[in-house]
Amino acid sequence: MEVVLATAAQQLAVIAADEVEQLLLSSSKPVLGLATGSSPLPIYNELIKRHRSEGLSFRHATAFLLDEYVGLQPGCPQSYRSVIEQEFTSHIDLPASALAGPQPNAEDPARSGPDYERLIAQSGGIDLQILGVGSDGHIAFNEPSSSLASRTRFKTLTDQTIEDNARFFDDDADAVPRHVLTQGVGTILEARHLVLIACGPGKAAAIAALVEGPVTAMCPASALQLHPKVTVLVDELAASELKQREYYRSAYRHKPAWQMAGS
Ligand code: GLP
Repeated sequence: MEVVLATAAQQLAVIAADEVEQLLLSSSKPVLGLATGSSPLPIYNELIKRHRSEGLSFRHATAFLLDEYVGLQPGCPQSYRSVIEQEFTSHIDLPASALAGPQPNAEDPARSGPDYERLIAQSGGIDLQILGVGSDGHIAFNEPSSSLASRTRFKTLTDQTIEDNARFFDDDADAVPRHVLTQGVGTILEARHLVLIACGPGKAAAIAALVEGPVTAMCPASALQLHPKVTVLVDELAASELKQREYYRSAYRHKPAWQMAGS
């Protein structure tokens, strides 16, 4: 696992955008995994900027969402599909038909997860998955105690996540759906490169558990320790509880040029 520390979220966004750009330039059929939440927004803004100013193109790309609320009206501005369209994909040249998200199968709910897994598999699998982390260590909507081998399925949100996400629902916790459809931890671990971004003191405990804690279902993000290619991008505040902070700084400073994105 590579841990990169920076003082500003914008520096982290540039590093993540370099990885995405390298993928877009090197693959004829790049497949991106997109996360919602506030953490990845600087990455999306940096990519929009590169699309506008340098012509970075997403026209051959496919994108998959990590998760979605269940029970919101179609087109509801808080649905993760609407959020990602509004914050990111409507500003780039990704074809609208190339964006997919988990959707409940109304006739046969049990098929909802496998349907989505099949779509991802048909695309050839996700090359680069952007991730945030919940303050309780959840990834996507895999709440603590989620199986580390889980696949896309329905989950019930914890009170903590409802409270954290109420800010997107006019601070009305009762308006936040209790149920979601989310890629499983096992699904996420199949992406070829995981890029997780976290900023601010509210993420410090989750980042320490993710990077240095034991691998445990009580911190689903700790399963990233089992993946061969993970980049964790953190600002100083989110990194504040990491014991090996100085080592991560030194390892990044001495990173061989050939390992940098785009070299
Ligand atoms: C939600 C999303 C996660 C996201 C998390 C953190 O629960 N399902 O994918 O990582 O929130 O969000 P934020 O980046 O806004 O702190």
